[in-house]
Amino acid sequence: MKRSLLLIIISVFVLASCEKVSVTADYHVIPLPQEITYTGNNPFELDGKTVITYPRESEVLERTAMFLSDYIKDFTGLQLSVLPDAAGKVIKLASEWRHDNHEAYQLTVTQDAIVINGAGDAGTFYGLQTLRKSMPVHSENKTVVFPAVEIMDYPRFGYRGMHLDVGRHLFPVDFIKKYIDLLALHNVNYFHWHLTDDQGWRIEIKKYPELTEIASIRKETLIGNLLTDIPHKFDGKPYGGYYTQDEIKEIVKYTQARFVTIIPEIDMPGHMLAALTAYPELGCTGGPYEVATKWGVFEDVLCAGNEKTYEFLENVFAEIVALFPSKYIHVGGDECPKTRWKACPKCQAMIHKSGLKADSKHTAEAKLQSYMVSRVEKTLKEKGREIIGWDEILEGGLISPDAIILSWRGIEGGIAAATNKHKAIMSPHYNLYFDYNQGKDIRKEPPSIGEYIPVRKVYDYEPVPDELTEEEAKYIIGPQANLWTEYIKTPAHAEYMLLPRLAALSEIQWVFPENKNYQSFLSRMDNMFEIYKKKECNFAKHIYHISADHPDMN
Ligand code: ACM
Ligand code: ZN
Repeated sequence: MKRSLLLIIISVFVLASCEKVSVTADYHVIPLPQEITYTGNNPFELDGKTVITYPRESEVLERTAMFLSDYIKDFTGLQLSVLPDAAGKVIKLASEWRHDNHEAYQLTVTQDAIVINGAGDAGTFYGLQTLRKSMPVHSENKTVVFPAVEIMDYPRFGYRGMHLDVGRHLFPVDFIKKYIDLLALHNVNYFHWHLTDDQGWRIEIKKYPELTEIASIRKETLIGNLLTDIPHKFDGKPYGGYYTQDEIKEIVKYTQARFVTIIPEIDMPGHMLAALTAYPELGCTGGPYEVATKWGVFEDVLCAGNEKTYEFLENVFAEIVALFPSKYIHVGGDECPKTRWKACPKCQAMIHKSGLKADSKHTAEAKLQSYMVSRVEKTLKEKGREIIGWDEILEGGLISPDAIILSWRGIEGGIAAATNKHKAIMSPHYNLYFDYNQGKDIRKEPPSIGEYIPVRKVYDYEPVPDELTEEEAKYIIGPQANLWTEYIKTPAHAEYMLLPRLAALSEIQWVFPENKNYQSFLSRMDNMFEIYKKKECNFAKHIYHISADHPDMN
């Protein structure tokens, strides 16, 4: 035998007999579970013979078990078997825990088994996310040791939202799926999808083909910042695109499997310039209009005095309802100037006919918007759905108490909603607009709309305003962050704005204030950053591997 061959054989033998390196799971993940109780010295050791098991009758848990198998393969390289009703050394999924919150779960680790028992299938899924995030990312060829533990966990808020604007710039279907995966990783359960705006209509509506043929394309786009780069220059390049109904169906299915609900938004009656370009008869002046090529608020909006507008909205929302199973449908309502309505004979006739008189609180035109929203609300209610609207929909005072208010101009909309028994989602722009800069020095940041929201400002936000009584506070169903994309053209840029602020958001959505701690959050981010890298995400580095006493953290 040749000497070199002998050496190889000896070294392989030595390597194989070496004790395998082990890594230990840490359950202090993001968001932090409510209760972690260690239960002894006998851990569970994951190896290639571990089986993932689920109850045979549950298709949902079978699918969820496959996710776990993928997650484990991702971090360890181990391809575990997934089998129904298996015994022995298992990771067992069940949804039998008695708890009144269906998103709650118990995660029990003993020497023989890991059991994830959700109060509902969503709870089991969150147990899985905790287990996955507890594993060190680079566990290939290592034994993963899971300390014996009993975790009991449930979210603080039932509504945990994240938004994406595809009206200004749209993103490929694969990126939307990656976005959903990131939401699931952070236990976010609602994806607010802003599908239409002045600069582009992004969803196929079969009854109105010109929404995609005309309204989805703008002839060019502003270069630079709307407010600071004066005079305005344009790129001269047409920009457009939309999601077909088949793509939407595929994304809805993908999202449901990850226990995320898509809330589609058709923004009306303002932010409708793209639709008016395709159907000018729906505007007060009759046009012609042009899909917007720059950002901002435009005076041309849907005519509220024309029955054809109501017919259009009814037909569009009928297709939206058929595509999206969400109980909540977002009808927009923000930033709708009333200039055209004041001068439009049809709008004024509608004000007169419907008895919408101005009073000390509301102008007649504000009431007209409220009238319009309440008509849309009625048709959606007939289909079993509830509306969400930006906080402007409170103006005019005619919407039903069931309408949910998304408070974005500050917290006042949320306070007014809750004191008037409307459910409210809190998304004040100065804490939760992820299109704002993450760093103080804007020269080091990619192009943006301006302003400054570091991770800490997101983390320190408390969604329930002090002004509310305990009873009123129950109407705050949760916080949401928004990602507007005027200045965000690529998936890489969107990821940069999203991460790691999404992690801070997930903690205010899930964890009670008394358990929040920024120093602990920063240390728990270490493994999350490794997950972002593994998933090839372009995350911002401002808090990357630094601690809370760093000078930039204050
Ligand atoms: C908004 O930011 N216009 C809701
Ligand atoms: Zn009009």
